[in-house]
Amino acid sequence: MSSANPPLIVIVPGAFGTPDGFNKLLPYLTEAGYTTHPGAYPSCNPSDPTNVSSAQDIAFLRDSVLLPLLNDQGKDVVVLAHSYGGVVAGGAANGLAKGTRQAHGHSTGIVGLIYVAGNITLEGEALLTAVGGVYPPFIKVGTPSEGLAIIEPAMDILYNDCDRALEAELNAFMQPHALRAFEMPATAPAWAESAFDGRRAYVRTLEDCCNPSSLQDAWLEKSKVEWDVVDFQTGHMPFVSQPRALAEQIVRFVEGFGRCDV
Ligand SMILES: *[C@@H]1O[C@H](CO)[C@@H](O)[C@H](O)[C@H]1NC(C)=O
Ligand SMILES: *[C@@H]1O[C@H](CO)[C@@H](O)[C@H](O)[C@H]1NC(C)=O
Repeated sequence: MSSANPPLIVIVPGAFGTPDGFNKLLPYLTEAGYTTHPGAYPSCNPSDPTNVSSAQDIAFLRDSVLLPLLNDQGKDVVVLAHSYGGVVAGGAANGLAKGTRQAHGHSTGIVGLIYVAGNITLEGEALLTAVGGVYPPFIKVGTPSEGLAIIEPAMDILYNDCDRALEAELNAFMQPHALRAFEMPATAPAWAESAFDGRRAYVRTLEDCCNPSSLQDAWLEKSKVEWDVVDFQTGHMPFVSQPRALAEQIVRFVEGFGRCDV
């Protein structure tokens, strides 16, 4: 499967960012023969931060991105999710595993889930609850206006292993995010489904100042399912600090999904 018809990789960014933040990763995936597709969602820098929720993010990613790719464009898809994107992608991919869809007469589906430092929530759990009920001090609540937040200082929290000279370039990727997205419960996550057995991968970022690896461990354990976990000696943004190594790992994961029986 993998060489004849490689799956499309849908990039679901974390909060406070857009798929543009993955630009350094893309040339390496292209070189390896993979095509990517942006998987943004509405709670990033919305016009009305009061009309936002993780359920709306999930519905948007599913209905406006994933289903058109699967149904109209006939693509198999691998979901690559970062940080809060794990909450959105998990909900959006629910029921869309290739095996599940084939049982319902569809030829395409989601062939794997790759989480990079992904925040994990259970069904009906809000992310704020999953991180202990209080915002960490680097999430600046009410900035730049009510209902929104940014992360500060971004170079220390997100890009601690990146070249300081990139600061201006990297700051340009930072977007305000609507806090309601973190406070409203998420819907049932796809990773819990047995149809994703052998198709869950997790990049654990060991020098992460935003999602400490001990928390990543706690989330993986709480999920009570098996993940193929690979450690990266990086901060929260390995697609910026180690794009080549991350791309190579993504390719290995995707090839592994291709070897699973559907
Ligand atoms: C809230 O957002 C949804 C989808 O994002 C939209 O369909 C709806 O019209 C919005 N409601 C208001 C009151 O703006
Ligand atoms: C994800 O979890 C980490 C660790 O608790 C937290 O610091 C971070 O703020 C969370 N992300 C969001 C968007 O809430």
